[in-house]
Amino acid sequence: MCGIVGYVGGRPALDVVVDGLARLEYRGYDSAGVAVLADGKLATAKRAGKLVNLRNALAEEPPPAGTLGMGHTRWATHGPPNDRNAHPHVDCTGSVAVIHNGIIENFAELRAELEEGGHGLGSDTDTEAVAHLLEDELKGGGDLADAMRRVCGRLEGAFTLVATHTGSPGLVVGARRNSPLVVGVGDGENFLASDVAAFIEHTRDAIELGQDQVVELRAEGVTVTDFDGRPAEVKEYHVDWDVSAAEKGGYDYFMLKEIAEQPRAVADTLLGRIGADGRLHLDEMRIPDQELREVDKIIIVACGTSYHAGLIAKYAIEHWAGLPCEVELASEFRYRDPILSPTTLVIAISQSGETMDALMAVRHAREQKAKLLGICNVNGSTLPRECDGVLYTHAGPEIAVASTKAFLTQLVAVYLIALYIAQVRGTKWGDEVFAMVQLLERMPEKVEKVLETMEPVRELARSLAGERCVLFLGRHVGFPVALEGALKLKELAYMHAEGFAAGELKHGPIALIEEDLPVVVVVPPRARDVLHDKIVSNIQEIRARGARTIVIAEEGDESVEPYADTLISVPAVPTLLQPLVTTVPLQVFACELATAKGHDVDQPRNLAKSVTVE
Ligand code: M6R
Repeated sequence: MCGIVGYVGGRPALDVVVDGLARLEYRGYDSAGVAVLADGKLATAKRAGKLVNLRNALAEEPPPAGTLGMGHTRWATHGPPNDRNAHPHVDCTGSVAVIHNGIIENFAELRAELEEGGHGLGSDTDTEAVAHLLEDELKGGGDLADAMRRVCGRLEGAFTLVATHTGSPGLVVGARRNSPLVVGVGDGENFLASDVAAFIEHTRDAIELGQDQVVELRAEGVTVTDFDGRPAEVKEYHVDWDVSAAEKGGYDYFMLKEIAEQPRAVADTLLGRIGADGRLHLDEMRIPDQELREVDKIIIVACGTSYHAGLIAKYAIEHWAGLPCEVELASEFRYRDPILSPTTLVIAISQSGETMDALMAVRHAREQKAKLLGICNVNGSTLPRECDGVLYTHAGPEIAVASTKAFLTQLVAVYLIALYIAQVRGTKWGDEVFAMVQLLERMPEKVEKVLETMEPVRELARSLAGERCVLFLGRHVGFPVALEGALKLKELAYMHAEGFAAGELKHGPIALIEEDLPVVVVVPPRARDVLHDKIVSNIQEIRARGARTIVIAEEGDESVEPYADTLISVPAVPTLLQPLVTTVPLQVFACELATAKGHDVDQPRNLAKSVTVE
């Protein structure tokens, strides 16, 4: 949830850290702070609110220049977002500074113990306890990394910690348990961050850290150990995107840029999947075909938008691969008693690969001996490491809090997985799988076409900025699209928005319909005649009760015209693939409506991009 940057090298640390924070602000933006070690002294600055407040404070009162520093952008868990609770937190002597992402669950008892021992704690946070624990460990000299290892042994919960100490010049120490932290490897300089975006303009060489590891960062090199001080194995990797991908590139918001990038993201996720033999190959899948043949049930776990991708996956998996498929909110999964066995395949979908609810669901499934497959957009994140196999989406960095291009690429990934399982199980012939992949390969051009025709959608959105509520209806794969449209509007425009299965309308929600209530209806292709005709009847039912109907239907579908107050046409595509084109107008709609209301669509209130706490 929070963004963390650490630096040691030859440049002015403050510049590196603040620029890094700017790229991590999507992770949390209710306060920000920095610490710089210069001339053997620690200087800190922190401010409530967005990073700009900190930048202004630093411009008014610049700290002394140093080449070692760290910074933090916060999404509050313990204590309200104010200057006092912003990170870094320091110990009683002002010689140790700590930043933290996660939740230290036993902080109340640690805090009580520290207060009893005479420490004065100045904030309401769990983090500050760590600064004082380090202070105790460092009394009378000692090594910061050893002290960190001992302190980590006392902490319960999830944490990424980064610390510096005046007694350990030239050293930044990081630690992680169940919370992200990556190392950037430079030439005579090294970086620590929650996400490679923070240092991508300086280096594309990175190191993945495992669970329960401590990293010592010096300008000359990096050492990684476990919490007991034993050398740890690490995985080095090269980031395959550059700094331009993490910048706005002329757009007012990252969200606009990311919506526009969708044709490319879809194409990249499809790249290289068909081998010379004409068969589908998913190289990173790592689950042998024989084991896939033995799978008798699939359970998908995910949160938010990724959960909606999972709901759509169910239709594809059951239809193409002929396997029963359940979809579960990751946060609910382990609190019931899911029936899993070694022949169950659990697919976890997560853009960030760091969503704690998804990770906990995966761990629960692992204990029950299920096979685990991750769908993830972030190389080096935790999810792929904890699964037997992974399918990476190639959306590139998604910075805006509202997920857009990641969602479309997750759809591509689940289609590929469904087709791959169908190929392996023989429920579809090779030529049928090939034909479907060819249809998928035409989707970037279809998405592009949708994007070219969005001006009327933007106009419509602006005209509805004064509304209090919008409903979304869909059937079949259009139902999760309706849920996704409603989620986008809630998180960006702070409006009451709900998605329903259109068939459920008569079982309650129709009572919500009143004069002029905007209702968006996602209409399946005409070729799915039974479904199509049913939804046309649903549109008539709500219109008869005064709803203002906004209908998304394939081009040339004249049957809906008489009942549509606004008609949004999308290219004709096969039913199962239709979410790739029907979701896009809903993203544009929510983005424009929220902007018309004056909201920052990249950083909606109360939210963070990556939810690393349960
Ligand atoms: O990184 P993940 O895909 O695991 O994130 C899951 C949700 O937190 C995320 O999709 C969230 O719902 C988005 N803000 C929706 O736009």
